[in-house]
Amino acid sequence: MKHTSILFLPFLLFAFISCTTDNVNKIKVIGVSQCSDDAWRRTMNSEMIREASFNSGIEVKMKTAHDSNQQQIRDIESFIADQVDLIIVSPNEAIPLTPVIEKAMLAGIPVLLIDRKISSGKYTAFVGADNFQIGKEVGVYAVNLLNGKGNVVEICGLNGSTPASERHNGFMSVIEKYPEIKVVNKSNGDWLRKQAREKMTEALQTKIPIDLVFAQNDEMAIGAREAISATSGIKKPILLGIDALPGADGGIQKVLNGVIDATFIYPTGGEKAIQIAVRILNNEPYDRDNLLYTAVVDRTNARVLKLQTDQIIQHQNRIGQLNTVLNQNLAKFSTQQNLLFLSFAVLFLITVLLILLLRLYRHKNKVNEELKQNNIAISKQKEELSEQRDQLIVLSKNLEEATQAKLVFFTNISHEFRTPLTLILGPLDILNEKETLSPNGKRLIQLMRKNVHVLLKLIDQIIEFRRYENGKMQMFFTLTDLKSYVAEICDSFVEYGKRKHIHFSFKATDEDYTLWFDSDKMEKICYNLLSNAFKFTPENGRIEVHLSKLLRNNEAFAQITVSDNGAGIPENHMHSVFERFYKVDDRVLGSGIGLHLTKVLVELHNGEITLESVEGKGTKFIVLFPYKQKEIQIVEQYPTMKSLVGRQENMMILDVDNETETDANLQTNKPLVLLVEDNIDVRVYIKSILMDSYEIIEAQNGQIGLMKAMKFVPELIISDVQMDVMDGFELCKKIKDNLSTSHIPVILLTAYSLDEQRAIGFESGADAYIPKPFNEHLLKIRVRKLIENREKIKDYFQKNLTFGERKESVGEIDKSFITKFRKLIEERLIDTDLNVDEIGKSLGLSRVQLYRKIKSLTNYAPNELVRIIRLKASEQLLINSEKSISEIAYDTGFSSPSYFTKCFKEYFNESPTDYIKRTRVN
Ligand code: FRU
Repeated sequence: MKHTSILFLPFLLFAFISCTTDNVNKIKVIGVSQCSDDAWRRTMNSEMIREASFNSGIEVKMKTAHDSNQQQIRDIESFIADQVDLIIVSPNEAIPLTPVIEKAMLAGIPVLLIDRKISSGKYTAFVGADNFQIGKEVGVYAVNLLNGKGNVVEICGLNGSTPASERHNGFMSVIEKYPEIKVVNKSNGDWLRKQAREKMTEALQTKIPIDLVFAQNDEMAIGAREAISATSGIKKPILLGIDALPGADGGIQKVLNGVIDATFIYPTGGEKAIQIAVRILNNEPYDRDNLLYTAVVDRTNARVLKLQTDQIIQHQNRIGQLNTVLNQNLAKFSTQQNLLFLSFAVLFLITVLLILLLRLYRHKNKVNEELKQNNIAISKQKEELSEQRDQLIVLSKNLEEATQAKLVFFTNISHEFRTPLTLILGPLDILNEKETLSPNGKRLIQLMRKNVHVLLKLIDQIIEFRRYENGKMQMFFTLTDLKSYVAEICDSFVEYGKRKHIHFSFKATDEDYTLWFDSDKMEKICYNLLSNAFKFTPENGRIEVHLSKLLRNNEAFAQITVSDNGAGIPENHMHSVFERFYKVDDRVLGSGIGLHLTKVLVELHNGEITLESVEGKGTKFIVLFPYKQKEIQIVEQYPTMKSLVGRQENMMILDVDNETETDANLQTNKPLVLLVEDNIDVRVYIKSILMDSYEIIEAQNGQIGLMKAMKFVPELIISDVQMDVMDGFELCKKIKDNLSTSHIPVILLTAYSLDEQRAIGFESGADAYIPKPFNEHLLKIRVRKLIENREKIKDYFQKNLTFGERKESVGEIDKSFITKFRKLIEERLIDTDLNVDEIGKSLGLSRVQLYRKIKSLTNYAPNELVRIIRLKASEQLLINSEKSISEIAYDTGFSSPSYFTKCFKEYFNESPTDYIKRTRVN
């Protein structure tokens, strides 16, 4: 932005300068309309131009009509159209020119008449000689020359022009007084030499002797002279003219030459006209009629006048030259002025640029300084980073070493695990065969067998993984039909799919799928992909295996796709799922090497594995195996299967115990415990620990747990912390915040024993917190103690029926619940019809919830508790009032005094009558 404005600046500056000049010297235009372009008018014009040049700000535009009225009218019209500031007119003829001059006046343009006049007085000013007076002076001069006697010829100017008539009138006004002077011929020479010559010739041809010729201007006098000279045998008449122009062809010279006898100075008035015009334009006072004076020029003064006029001409020429020089200087001055402005502009620009440069320089210095500082900081950071990098290298080396050590350890341990696990598995199988086992015993044995297989599978994977890492994994390729092989593996999943209510299908296109692969590794690849799909696909989901042939760059591949519509993989995890030890979801069991191993096994087949997944929509694994294998070890006889876990066991591991939860038989007297845990095995285990002493109901997540807690109002809740749908903390908080369940003690179980987690657990209101793995006895004791504690509260409440003093194990909600309950009864003590339904409604609980809540808090049924509160109130009345027993019975809501007496006796082991006797003082 800054740069743009600087670039524009000079232009703005120039614009400003030119504007200023325009405003100060507004040029005014004067239009000069001349009737002819003869010598007299040329003299007049040059006078005007010279005079105008002394007035800066005046422009003179000249037009000459060449003695044509029409042309002059057009000229004036064009001045009007151009809106000139003033018009100077020398009207060719008065009458024809009057309208257009009046029009100019009407248009607001001042009109200055020069030499000739119009027929109306509508003009601004007049400059010129008094033609009548001149005519008169010519007359007087002629009379003197003729001595009052002789013939005169008069050649007049243009008929319609005012000087012609005025000069004639003036001349005649004198001549008429001399009867012996006769005008023998009068004609119109139109102010022109040629016309006058003709008219004079005509006059001479009349043969009338002529003593004097009065031509109204010198031009016509010269014409007359030419005619006279051309005529022989005549007396040469005296020749008088008017104008007396200076110069070689002027009238003065003609007098000196003897062409004319005398002439009368007729001043052109060009200078005067411009002076008056300037006054008019400047709104200064001026005279409307400006008359110029005349004088006679004859042999007596012609020489002197000639000298004077020549000098004047010289002066004028000099003035003209000076004017030219002045104009040149002015032009120079104006150029210099422009240059000066330009210089100012450039100077200004340079100043601005310098300021900018200075600022730029300062800014650059500042930036350089900042850069320097930044560089220092960056190199410091670089150093730190390189130090950190070195540390990281060391660390990662250490880590790699530690990982390797761990892996070696894991592998060794895994190998070590094999024997004891096999030794566990064997006796378990024998035990499983025993018919004497109770159903629960059988279930526990199954659980153990399954988990031994899980361990064996993990060991299997670790060993396989290490084998690969150590470069010891061997491939045994056989030429086999992949289609039937994959179909067989899929078959083993069909049953499992049905149990899990998952639509599972295998499809293959009709092609030949005989290719080289390691069948053991292929089974592992398929198993891993399928078990992965089953792990993340919910009930009623869909898993599809599709085998097809693919041609890519002329190479044939067998393509297996395993797609599911399960949980899907979040985008930020997609690129890492094949990394070793990588787990998308920590909550899902597994070592994190399954998919890594799968990729390794696929690549050992020179194949490729890719995946497509959309979170929440599903995942598709695409595996490609080339038909042609290069440099592979081919075995005809496949070595015996080394895997620790067979296909059946594989399925067993996957097979989640599908037994339906049989919610506890609530008819038994055993305390009811709700077990919330997402791992079925853990649930089975805890159930087996507690089932002898407690009735167990189960839920696989927090949400179902909360629902069941509200429905069954158990004596105690045991909940896992980490669960998919509503974790243990949230469940616990909701239990404690809900009136119908707030009293239920909650034990939280977690796989971690971090203090922080424990704190969150207690904050959520948990009554106990047991870390996993837990000790069976500890759990039993915790459960028993918490339930016993509830019993104590019940005892306490039974005895006191209030919670006036603070009791640690009673929550705020429960305290206020009991207070509310008691208040409600006390307020409606007299109301016999108050029933349990109504009380439940006012407290926001269902009949069952109220029952369970009151029972678990007080061991009384709600209606029992209502009766006790009534009896306690009646006891107070018996002691402190004068009322009769029956009055008290009704006042405390008993339907009859006899029923009251019966209840009172049952509760206090004493009849009301005896109670009064014992307690009332009088
Ligand atoms: C010039 C002229 C003069 C004369 C005057 C009268 O055009 O003819 O010679 O004095 O006009 O208007």
